[in-house]
Amino acid sequence: MARPKIALIGAGQIGGTLAHLAAMKELGDVVLFDIAEGTPQGKALDIAESGPAEGFDAALKGTNDYADIAGADVCIVTAGVPRKPGMSRDDLLGINLKVMKSVGEGIAKHAPDAFVICITNPLDAMVWALQKFSGLPAAKVCGMAGVLDSARFRHFLSLEFDVSMKDVTAFVLGGHGDTMVPLTRYSTVAGIPLPDLVKMGWTTQDRLDAIVQRTRDGGAEIVGLLKTGSAFYAPATAAIEMAEAYLKDQKRVLPCAAHVDGAYGLKGTYVGVPTVIGAGGIEKVIDIKLDKDEQAMMDKSIEAVKGLVEACKGIDNSLN
Ligand code: LMR
Repeated sequence: MARPKIALIGAGQIGGTLAHLAAMKELGDVVLFDIAEGTPQGKALDIAESGPAEGFDAALKGTNDYADIAGADVCIVTAGVPRKPGMSRDDLLGINLKVMKSVGEGIAKHAPDAFVICITNPLDAMVWALQKFSGLPAAKVCGMAGVLDSARFRHFLSLEFDVSMKDVTAFVLGGHGDTMVPLTRYSTVAGIPLPDLVKMGWTTQDRLDAIVQRTRDGGAEIVGLLKTGSAFYAPATAAIEMAEAYLKDQKRVLPCAAHVDGAYGLKGTYVGVPTVIGAGGIEKVIDIKLDKDEQAMMDKSIEAVKGLVEACKGIDNSLN
């Protein structure tokens, strides 16, 4: 049986990490695409040469030609530029929108049956634009946001409670990062919801609020430390978890930037929601009943995404 084909569009820090992870997990053969000559070829060869020591079977190819992604089962898009200290994700909109146009056209032409995961920022607007530019079914185009945000939230919670992160669950909705909506009542340590842990005196509401804020600022914290770019290990790992759920039809319940039509009272908006990912792509959007405060946060998040989508339409007429 042929191995699945995984196309990685963009061979920067995240693209290289994705290629390494996909190969090490033997998810399939990897095609690493970038417009920069030599970079995808060099990274693919370097990772392939780690195969004998690591013991994985996966073919890796670096390319500057979209034709090489032909028939890909999964495309993970990291093309575009990352932010630098002092920038917001939204500052990248104009430049990355142009990149999404050529990526969307490349995917439409060569890999129209792929499950597409977008990582490029500003994420919720870029995944919306990518779906429009590619014309792929909305259930097959999503953004990696909630998996990363909830992984950060779980990490900080495991530090706070001094327990294994395996026993911490986190539930987040909304836009990526700044406008993320944490559902603390559905986030748990060993099944005990966070508000109950506050009541038990294991932490305080103030400390919990600070953890939520640190999670929202998680990307900026890394940008501030790295100074030359943004996070890549955790974003790549999050996208690989989503790709694996699709390729292995795992029916994982994962939060991601999905096309929401009907649920949450939305009409065709991309925003972070809990989903079921399996062989059909985004097989289900889980519609949670929000309380007043959560709804207010969600509304703010949705307004922020809508504003960016309008800005995209203002830049590129074909999106109207
Ligand atoms: C992240 O959250 O790490 C990414 O969205 C990159 C960024 O600019 O923060």
